Amino acid sequence: MESNTRIKILLLLSLSIPLFCSSIGVTYDSNAIIINGQRRIIFSGAIHYPRSTPEMWPDLIQKAKDGGLDAIETYVFWDIHEPVRRQYDFAGNLDFIKFFKLIQEAGLYGVLRIGPYVCAEWNYGGFPMWLKNMPDIELRTNNEVYKNEMQIFTTKIVNMCKEAKLFASQGGPIIIAQIENEYGNIMSHYGDAGKAYINWCAQMAQAQNIGIPWIMCQQSDAPQPMINTCNGYYCDQFTPNNPKSPKMFTENWIGWFKTWGERDPHRTAEDSAFSVARFFQLGGVFNNYYMYHGGTNFGRTAGGPYITTSYDYDAPLDEYGNLNQPKWGHLKQLHAAIKLGEKLLTNGTVTTKEFGNNVNLTMYSNNSTGERFCFLSNADTSRDATIDLQTDGKYFVPAWSVTILDGCNKEVFNTAKVNAQTTLLVKKQDEHRSAQLTWTWAPEPMRDTLQGKGRFRARQLLEQKQTTLDVSDYLWYMTTVDVDESSSKNVVLHVNTSGHVLHAFVNKKFIGYQWGTAEEPEFTFEKPISLKPGTNVITLLSATVGLQNYGEFFDSQPTGIVGGPVQLIGDNNVTTDLSSNVWSYKVGLNGEAKRLFDPLNNSSGWRTTKQLPAGRRMTWYKANFKAPSGTDPVVVDLQGMGKGQAWVNGHSIGRFWPSFQANVDGCSETCDYRGAYEADKCVTNCGYPSQRWYHVPRSFLKSDTNTLVLFEELGGNPHNVSFKTTTLDTVCGNAYENSILELSCNQGQTISDIQFASFGDPSGKCGSFTKGNCDARLSVSQVEKACVGKDACSIDVSTRTFGSADGCGNITKRLAVQVSCEN
Ligand SMILES: *[C@@H]1O[C@H](CO)[C@@H](O)[C@H](O)[C@H]1NC(C)=O
Ligand SMILES: *[C@@H]1O[C@H](CO)[C@@H](O)[C@H](O)[C@H]1NC(C)=O
Ligand SMILES: *[C@@H]1O[C@H](CO)[C@@H](O)[C@H](O)[C@H]1NC(C)=O
Ligand SMILES: *[C@@H]1O[C@H](CO)[C@@H](O)[C@H](O)[C@H]1NC(C)=O
Ligand SMILES: *[C@@H]1O[C@H](CO)[C@@H](O)[C@H](O)[C@H]1NC(C)=O
Ligand SMILES: *[C@@H]1O[C@H](CO)[C@@H](O)[C@H](O)[C@H]1NC(C)=O
Ligand SMILES: *[C@@H]1O[C@H](CO)[C@@H](O)[C@H](O)[C@H]1NC(C)=O
Ligand SMILES: *[C@@H]1O[C@H](CO)[C@@H](O)[C@H](O)[C@H]1NC(C)=O
Ligand SMILES: *[C@@H]1O[C@H](CO)[C@@H](O)[C@H](O)[C@H]1NC(C)=O
Ligand SMILES: *[C@@H]1O[C@H](CO)[C@@H](O)[C@H](O)[C@H]1NC(C)=O
Repeated sequence: MESNTRIKILLLLSLSIPLFCSSIGVTYDSNAIIINGQRRIIFSGAIHYPRSTPEMWPDLIQKAKDGGLDAIETYVFWDIHEPVRRQYDFAGNLDFIKFFKLIQEAGLYGVLRIGPYVCAEWNYGGFPMWLKNMPDIELRTNNEVYKNEMQIFTTKIVNMCKEAKLFASQGGPIIIAQIENEYGNIMSHYGDAGKAYINWCAQMAQAQNIGIPWIMCQQSDAPQPMINTCNGYYCDQFTPNNPKSPKMFTENWIGWFKTWGERDPHRTAEDSAFSVARFFQLGGVFNNYYMYHGGTNFGRTAGGPYITTSYDYDAPLDEYGNLNQPKWGHLKQLHAAIKLGEKLLTNGTVTTKEFGNNVNLTMYSNNSTGERFCFLSNADTSRDATIDLQTDGKYFVPAWSVTILDGCNKEVFNTAKVNAQTTLLVKKQDEHRSAQLTWTWAPEPMRDTLQGKGRFRARQLLEQKQTTLDVSDYLWYMTTVDVDESSSKNVVLHVNTSGHVLHAFVNKKFIGYQWGTAEEPEFTFEKPISLKPGTNVITLLSATVGLQNYGEFFDSQPTGIVGGPVQLIGDNNVTTDLSSNVWSYKVGLNGEAKRLFDPLNNSSGWRTTKQLPAGRRMTWYKANFKAPSGTDPVVVDLQGMGKGQAWVNGHSIGRFWPSFQANVDGCSETCDYRGAYEADKCVTNCGYPSQRWYHVPRSFLKSDTNTLVLFEELGGNPHNVSFKTTTLDTVCGNAYENSILELSCNQGQTISDIQFASFGDPSGKCGSFTKGNCDARLSVSQVEKACVGKDACSIDVSTRTFGSADGCGNITKRLAVQVSCEN
């Protein structure tokens, strides 16, 4: 008896955990990804390894697994792995081999999107700058120089994976690989060469001989055997170009990214689930969330132009790795519900019944066993429906939702009925630490550049990124103008720049600054200036804010003052063109060269003054601090600062620009999940800094003293800069009658207080629930009994628990709860 049980347990374990010890066969047909003969549908999620730290990886991966994912997907980022040609870096958070090994240890599959063009709101789409500067090169087309480099990098990555036995064919976790990326979106601009290039990509990838399927996303003419796949908010209408290919959704955009000045995007749990459920209703086989964890654009890795440092993406795991609830939990329940039908979905017979008003029933069945699995969808954007399936029951299907019916007669999930808990996180001050920091400061040394002294000269205005090789955001353009006694001294300085930020100085005096927008990075700067008789020095500092990462020929998008013109416009529009003057150049800041950001380099230049300078341009600030205690993620609040870059213990935590406020318009209190999502629907944070909080990974911190360094470009005030933790503070639940509501605080916390509980017809949302017309008398006391003092609790939401709720009549009652969590 006992040994029998043990055998059963062993059997169960071996069925649920993918076996990695020997070669794993991965094939497919139109209905399934077939792994070792098992017909599977796959839930996958994107987690980009360089957007977190190796110390965060195990927790992120575990949370992805707990959320019901089968696989984790990542791109590989060429620019940071090969910053200098043939000099590679795979250390620290670039150790993608370790990342895949952790995925394997967690019992998950991996999806490897090599690109090596990746887009990804990543600097220059992942291309290293040396590549662009190679003679006779043209990127992403049928060019021998480019193809050769692409093949060398692709082969290097493939060989590293082979060496580590990471491909499923070798017993490893990686079941799918991608070459190129969304080329179909822009291919027509490259003419015949584009088509030749994509054919070459397919052959080159195929010749890598990795024993697993290759995909190309957004490539409707994908050469066989490449599987073309779909990216977007919805892919239910997509069909691959080969009827034998599985229907794959490589990027289900679960939210959106943000540029400086943009509001916080928010895609609801309801609509996210609707997109996924519709996709599987209509024959989907593989769904990958883009992103599952967005993370942080550390250093200068943000793409552009003007992509923010936070890459939160409103993903199921937030920037810091916290569960983004209810999205994470709602999708977890969706995955479990769809998996109930896996066998039938991957092999059944499909029939569809129309009920009118955009309501359809899709039935997957096995006519020999009588097993059935159904999706009942209401794709109408406003009309709810009640559908009578006769002996299979009667179902209320809200507008823009899908009900999943196990056995076609039991509702196990509806995309618009969110039972998962909502959590509210707060930024909390460690009460044992002073919020106030003590600062020293140093002016950025500019003697040389304000005097027009650079390192090299040219008789033209150079393109910025190809001049700096993108080792810095900054390029100084300097020239002189001789004025004789007789000519006009008051002129207008006119600078036409391709972006992204310009600072102008004349004769060491600051004249002004200006920047463009993500849609229009190029702009014209015009300021009246006074020239003195004799030699005048014009110093222009141009800064990039993330290099373009998308679009046809994006790599040739100019940056800096390239070509200009730079002009002096005098009386009667008499124009002096300075564009072909002798220009002197300097790459980067002196403070960067002196490594002022690195506490290990003790420069003597730091000053302690009674009055810390505020609003001072081109200034470095430094403060020591103790890490907030505990394990909650740490952020630094940079409100009050202008624009620049921040470092903790020498690690760049990215660019900051809190003075850039989000648009004031377009936010609203309510958010209707119904109807097609687009990025400016349901936005929040109007009129506030587009990014105020900056992630400081715990692994960047030491237990004793830490150092924060800020380089401030525009002028800011560090007075209010402080370190906080993101802490789970409030949990809300909202469940319909005859379901189980589960609430949980974070590990180490307990539920301390019931702030609201009502079983009846409460309204409002987490943080602002109100009672409705009816309410069970026992609502609060029963929730108290079940939850207070515990780290998690589960409540049977029914009249069995709460008694009848007087005055509710025959409506479907729901329970709304709000509790506080305490450390
Ligand atoms: C379903 O499974 C059977 C038996 O395994 C197989 O013969 C058949 O081709 C499968 N059908 C589909 C549509 O995949
Ligand atoms: C139907 O179920 C039987 C028994 O499980 C199985 O052998 C067969 O492959 C299934 N056929 C289809 C089309 O799903
Ligand atoms: C319902 O199903 C029919 C038949 O498959 C299809 O033509 C129609 O587009 C579907 N409507 C919706 C809203 O899914
Ligand atoms: C399978 O059963 C469904 C539902 O009963 C029916 O509509 C369909 O025609 C059957 N298909 C086959 C191939 O027998
Ligand atoms: C300014 O530069 C843009 C390209 O960045 C160019 O299209 C435009 O013609 C220039 N304007 C002038 C006045 O030269
Ligand atoms: C100078 O040029 C600007 C723009 O081209 C024009 O609007 C203005 O009228 C001109 N002024 C004179 C004095 O010619
Ligand atoms: C900075 O410090 C490191 C390590 O202490 C040293 O190797 C390097 O030379 C220093 N660089 C500068 C510019 O002082
Ligand atoms: C920098 O200064 C600190 C204290 O002022 C000292 O402990 C440390 O050894 C110095 N480091 C270097 C590399 O000079
Ligand atoms: C610091 O924060 C306080 C409180 O919010 C505010 O009143 C003050 O203006 C801020 N100071 C600066 C320099 O931003
Ligand atoms: C509730 O009761 C009313 C009146 O008795 C009836 O018309 C309605 O169909 C009932 N609704 C449900 C959901 O049972």
